[in-house]
Amino acid sequence: MGRSGFWSWLARPAHPAVRSLAMRDAPRIAAIHSEGFHRGWSVPEIEAMLADATIVGLGIGRGRALEGFVLSRRAADEAEILTIAVATGARRSGLGLAVLLAHLSQLAGRGVRALFLEVDEGNAAARALYDSLDFREVGRRNAYYRRPDGGRATALVLRKELA
Ligand SMILES: CC(C)(COP(=O)(O)OP(=O)(O)OC[C@H]1O[C@@H](n2cnc3c(N)ncnc32)[C@H](O)[C@@H]1OP(=O)(O)O)[C@@H](O)C(=O)NCCC(=O)NCCS
Repeated sequence: MGRSGFWSWLARPAHPAVRSLAMRDAPRIAAIHSEGFHRGWSVPEIEAMLADATIVGLGIGRGRALEGFVLSRRAADEAEILTIAVATGARRSGLGLAVLLAHLSQLAGRGVRALFLEVDEGNAAARALYDSLDFREVGRRNAYYRRPDGGRATALVLRKELA
């Protein structure tokens, strides 16, 4: 490897890695979440979730940088995804899929048999992600979400069986 090859190798973006979430991640989680949803969560709200023993989550990022995360609430052998988001600039590079796949294993490892979530019917990106993982529609909640323009959107309730 030549000298310039070495420096570009050294400066390469690290491979994204899945990792656990810590209290210090709360501000970054709040920032990523606010890019994805118009109703944001405050840092104290995120801190309360991270301190809650019923909430299970994972993050993903390169090096120390957090670029995406997922949080679910677990009750007995069921769980519900509360939120999943990837930073705008890091989307469509496989991070959402990778953190969600790791989360499915994490939940299955804790005895969760069925995972639920709600998704806006018009959220094509998220719906394609869930379709690719065989989540199935089990319900609809009409006019469930309030849009920034005051309109209403339908929530689909999806379910996936975990092995
Ligand atoms: C949904 C979200 C987490 C996906 O994260 P991501 O890292 O961009 O997704 P990935 O790159 O892992 O994509 C995995 C698959 O999802 C689907 N997908 C992701 N973004 C898509 C888009 N903009 N349009 C269509 N399909 C998309 C594709 O099937 C994709 O596979 P492919 O790239 O091989 O075609 C991300 O778009 C996001 O943070 N959105 C805002 C928050 C949100 O809506 N969360 C879901 C709430 S229910």
